Parts: sequence; structure tokens; C-alpha cells
Amino acid sequence: MTALTLSTAAAPGLRADAIVVGVAKGAQGPVVAPGAEAVDQAYDGKLAGVLETLGASGAEGEVTKLPAPAGFKAPVLVAVGLGAEPEKDSAYSAEALRRAAGAAARALAGSKKAAFALPLAEAADAGAVAEGALLGAYSFDAYKENGRNGSKAKNGKAPLAEIALLGGKPRDKAYRAAVERALAVSEELNRARDLINTPPNDLNPEAFAAVAQAAAKENGIKVTVLDEKALAKGGYGGILGVGAGSASAPRLVQLTYSGPGAKKHLAFVGKGITYDSGGISLKPAGHNETMKCDMSGAAAVFAAVVAAARLQLPVKVTGWLALAENMPSGSATRPGDVLRMYSGKTVEVLNTDAEGRLVLADALWKASEDKPDAIVDVATLTGAMMLALGNRTFGVMANDDAFRTAVHETAAEVGEDAWPMPLPEHLRKGMDSPTADIANMGERYGGGLVAGLFLREFVGEGITWAHLDIAGPAFNEAAPFGYTPKGGTGTAVRTLVRLAERAAAGDLG
Ligand code: BES
Ligand code: MN
Ligand code: ZN
Repeated sequence: MTALTLSTAAAPGLRADAIVVGVAKGAQGPVVAPGAEAVDQAYDGKLAGVLETLGASGAEGEVTKLPAPAGFKAPVLVAVGLGAEPEKDSAYSAEALRRAAGAAARALAGSKKAAFALPLAEAADAGAVAEGALLGAYSFDAYKENGRNGSKAKNGKAPLAEIALLGGKPRDKAYRAAVERALAVSEELNRARDLINTPPNDLNPEAFAAVAQAAAKENGIKVTVLDEKALAKGGYGGILGVGAGSASAPRLVQLTYSGPGAKKHLAFVGKGITYDSGGISLKPAGHNETMKCDMSGAAAVFAAVVAAARLQLPVKVTGWLALAENMPSGSATRPGDVLRMYSGKTVEVLNTDAEGRLVLADALWKASEDKPDAIVDVATLTGAMMLALGNRTFGVMANDDAFRTAVHETAAEVGEDAWPMPLPEHLRKGMDSPTADIANMGERYGGGLVAGLFLREFVGEGITWAHLDIAGPAFNEAAPFGYTPKGGTGTAVRTLVRLAERAAAGDLG
């Protein structure tokens, strides 16, 4: 894990492999961002001109490397683009800082230590730079030679090991707290990414539950794991039905964090399909290579609960991980089977590839029994949501308009792209079943909303609920950008942590 500290050092004398400065896109060309004054001075105040000569514009994500000025201990200067220069008297947005820090950290993979001289006008800026840098410095090499033997990178560069933030106030409480928070959130988020990226032959429901159990013990979180026997005894027909085709049995994990003086209780429910082959309604080749990512919702919930505990937030958070592997076999659920769910409702399974809603239905009903102040579920639920919103934005649905707005605003606040989606009543009848109380599929059009309507049926009466369909942004198959790597992204973790903070502050309805 990358180490990060606030440093009082000045850029010239600092021993590091590189110094990072910010460059923004000004009206007349690139402008050097605040924080880099000492560096600019060493170039006689002409760093912007030097960068322009090198072709830099200050565009978001742009990275320009140049030799550090004479007299600097660090050999390399990295100028990272912040995007458009803010208007007069306004500051760089937290997200611009996060993305720039992330891009710089990625560009420095293979280096040991870097100093970041980015704008740190406020404590929150230090939090944003720290978060971006720590998230950008992520790499997953557990299955590569360098990751296996811990030696020098052979087929991949080791992530930046050490980061010093320059220009902040290392003795100021607010700055220190912002960095502590960034460390807790980023480390847990990176752990969620590790889980998502772990191949499904090594992360089945039992293995995921064991990881959760160990982390819970370390962080003072109460944990209960229901195995297949307990699930059968409890009548969890949805989770068992989805897991029936797999040689690896399903699990339902409950994580309870009760913060000091907690007044509010949030429940987070995560879809944890450790591999989604589609089951008997098998996915065609080309649609299952990335389906290890189908436990991203559970990974996000797990990370958020652990982060809340590390931060000792004064709130109660219950995390539910609905873990199963969706496989075809002689014991698998068939299209046409009827499952009796934990809620008592019966579901006709028309398509075994619509499995996420089945495991979530049981977990939502179980979570509802505690009567939390609100439930938020997170799931890589539908391809339809990807068609609607693309692969960087998750959809937010809810049974309460004000709560949906609050969740959307919370996501925006932490720099996660989300968008509100409706739950149109007329789509409900498409799930009417001649045999059971409801079918697990409805109309094709609006498939993401149909899934949301299905879930709504399994939320306890009178409980505020929101559903995040993260199928698009959960797994990045394209090139890395900002602080987002290839592979598992850890999307929704930061929104969940912020929701817990808002609930703790009594600022969530
Ligand atoms: N896990 C998939 C959704 C998904 C697709 C996530 C692509 C990430 C990337 C989900 O279980 C699924 O298969 N959904 C079906 C539902 C349909 C059968 C009603 C879908 O979206 O096609
Ligand atoms: Mn599926
Ligand atoms: Zn799935």
C-alpha cells in the first residue's frame, strides 16, 4: 500500500524521484497552478512558457515530464493537467485535484517516492489530492511475477510507494483529519478493487465471506455468516436458487458497525455474484469474460462499512453481502422454476441470468427486518443501465424522491458520476406471472427500471430505499483515466461512506 504524509519540506531540497506540479488551461495558454511557486521561481518564473514549448496545454489528465531545475534534489518534474483554470476568486474543484493527482500517480508507477506540489488552499484540497493520488497509485499484480515474489517489476511497474504532500499545513487538525480520511477510504476502496479483480476461481462466496470475517475482526465490526445450511433453514430461496448450480455454496454476510453515540442506522446491501455465467440461460461468449466483476456491489458495501469503522463515524451501519456463484449444472435453477423467497413471496424464474435481483431480494427483506432509517443497495444489475448511462455513470432509483435526490447529490459531492432514474409504475405488470407472485423478468425496454421495480417489492413497508445500478462504471475495460485504473474501479464506495457521514451528522432526512 502506498504511504502518504503531509510534509513541511520545500520542493528544492526534498529527496524524491519526482516533484509533481499542476498546470491549468488558461485563456492564453498553460498556467502554473498554486503550490508550485518555488518550482516556478527556479525556472525564473517561466515554467508556464517552458511547458508550452513542450506542447503542454493544461488539459485534464495531460502529463508532461521534464528535467527538474538545477539545484533540485529530485531529478524529474511532472506537470499534470488540471483542466480549465478556475474563474477569478474561485478554486480548483476537488474532483479536478483528485483526477490530476491520480493521473500523476499513475504516470509515476515504477518510481519510489514523489512529492506533490498541487494547490492545497484548504484542508479539503489535501483530502482530494491524497485520495486521487492513493487511488491512482493502485495496481493489481497478485497474479503477475512481480506481485508473486515481491521482487522488481518484470511484467508491470510497481505502484508509487511513497507520497509527500507539500504546501499543506501538517500541524493543522483539519488537514490531518482530511488526510486520515483519505487514507481510510482509499485503502478500503483499493481493497474492494482487489476483490473485484481477483479471478473467480480464487474468490467464491466462501472465500469472500472469509475475507469479510477477517476484516471485521480487525476493525471491531460484528460479523455473521449464513452458510448454505443456515440459508436453507432460514428460507432464503432467492440466494439458494441462484447458488444452486455452483459447486461453491452461497453465503449471506452481515456486517454490523455500531459507532459511538449512533442515532441513525443505515443498511447497505450489495450484490455479490462472484461469477455470473448466466446459469442455464447461459451468456454467450464475449459476455462473460469480465463477469468476475459481478460482486462489485458487495465489495463496495464491504469497503464502506470497514471505512466507516476505521473513521469511527457516530452512526450504525449494517452491511449485507449477498454472495453466490451463478453457474449452469444439473442442480441449477431452471427457467420455469419457482423460488420461495425469504419474504414469503414466490418468484417464477424466467431467465436465470436475471440473478442479481433474486439474491438482493432476500437480503433486502432481511435488512428491512431491523427497520433501518434507510437502505441503499448497490449492484451490477443490468446491461440496460449501461446502455442508458454509459460506462462511467451509475443509475440511482428510489422509493422516495427526496432520498433519491440526496443520494445523487452525495455522489456528486464525492466526485462519483450518478444520475437519477425513474421507477415507472406501468412497467410493473410486465413481471406478472401466471404461476407465481412475480416473475424475475419483465419488458425488455427499460430493463434497468424493471429490475428496480422488482427490488422495490422486497423492501419492507415504510422503509426509505435507494438502488444504485453500477453495471456501467464498476469495471473499466477501457484505458485508465484520472484515478480510475483498468479493471475493478471501486465505484460507489465513496458515495456510501459519504452517506454514512451525512447520516452521522443528522444531515440525511
Ligand atoms: N450481471 C449482469 C449485468 C451486467 C452486464 C453487469 C454487463 C455488468 C456488465 C446481470 O446479472 C444480468 O445478466 N442482467 C441481465 C438481465 C436480463 C436477463 C433481464 C441483462 O442485463 O441482460
Ligand atoms: Mn446475470
Ligand atoms: Zn449478474
